[in-house]
Amino acid sequence: MSDWARLQEEVTSDLQQARTTSELEAIRVKYLGRKGRLTEVLRSLAKLSEGQRRLVGQEANALRDFLESALTARRQALRQKELEQTLKEERLDVTLPPIPFPLGHRHPITQTLSEVVEIFTHMGFAIADGPELETDYYNFTALNIPPDHPARDMQDTFYLTEEWLLRTHTSPVQIHVMERQSPPLRIVAPGRVFRHEAIDASHSAVFHQVEGLAVDEGISFSDLKGTLSLFVRHCFGPSVGLRFRPSYFPFTEPSAEVDVQCLLCQGTGCRTCGGSGWIEMLGAGMVHPKVFEAVHYDPERYTGFAFGLGVERIAMLKFGVEDMRLFYENDVRLLEQIPRRWAWG
Ligand code: PHE
Repeated sequence: MSDWARLQEEVTSDLQQARTTSELEAIRVKYLGRKGRLTEVLRSLAKLSEGQRRLVGQEANALRDFLESALTARRQALRQKELEQTLKEERLDVTLPPIPFPLGHRHPITQTLSEVVEIFTHMGFAIADGPELETDYYNFTALNIPPDHPARDMQDTFYLTEEWLLRTHTSPVQIHVMERQSPPLRIVAPGRVFRHEAIDASHSAVFHQVEGLAVDEGISFSDLKGTLSLFVRHCFGPSVGLRFRPSYFPFTEPSAEVDVQCLLCQGTGCRTCGGSGWIEMLGAGMVHPKVFEAVHYDPERYTGFAFGLGVERIAMLKFGVEDMRLFYENDVRLLEQIPRRWAWG
């Protein structure tokens, strides 16, 4: 009997000392495993006389039941404690800001180009494309620029041969589009253009334009004004000043230039706007009948407007960059300062 009492005491103290579920498992093996102390007692019952077997059997079974239920209870308590510990140690604060890592973004000129195009596609313009290598015909003749026009001067145009040249503007895309399609049409054509020019803060030999063209019956100059006013407001905000100035282009009649109030000095006059408070942003006008004739459109039936805007000028105003050359030097310090995407209000 005292053996039983000692065994029971041992079991109880083992159980109390167990700190983890694996320690608990070791106790289970120690007593109830294949070579466990209690298992051995139970196994040896067969060798005993019937009277002893009943007596010892009862005690052994009672101890086993006690051990099993104590193990279960303790295991549950320990599991709960371990779970609480894990939850405490591995707590995740989902409100913590993420660790930032550098993300690249598109070049400011590319961003500006696609923003401009997007404004026009939202108005219903489709996107058109044309080659950078053009013939004299598409770049000049079809656009009503006669052979003796100063725009053809070697000083302005990069000629490859007498006939082939790098386009000096995106207007030849007008001709390509009208040769392929009949009215009504509304397109914008973004792209690179080339001019043999001295490079300075506001001039580059390679720059970007977005050409626009709308042709239909009954298109008037007020459609042009409305479209471009809407564009300028989308691009620079609702309160920016703009003005239409009479101008001259061989391929439009009448022609105009659109100036936007200088955002760098709020119109008071600075280096970028040459002190005038205004920055020339685009050329525009009603498509000249001679241009329609070149693509076999009936000038009696159709009218249209066209415009060409300078992307670098817009980017300079938008981002407050005073020297165009900064866009081409690819200095990451500048590129990183330019926001990923600009938006108004
Ligand atoms: N192609 C002209 C330029 O490069 C701009 C323009 C386009 C003007 C369309 C009128 C109509 O200056």
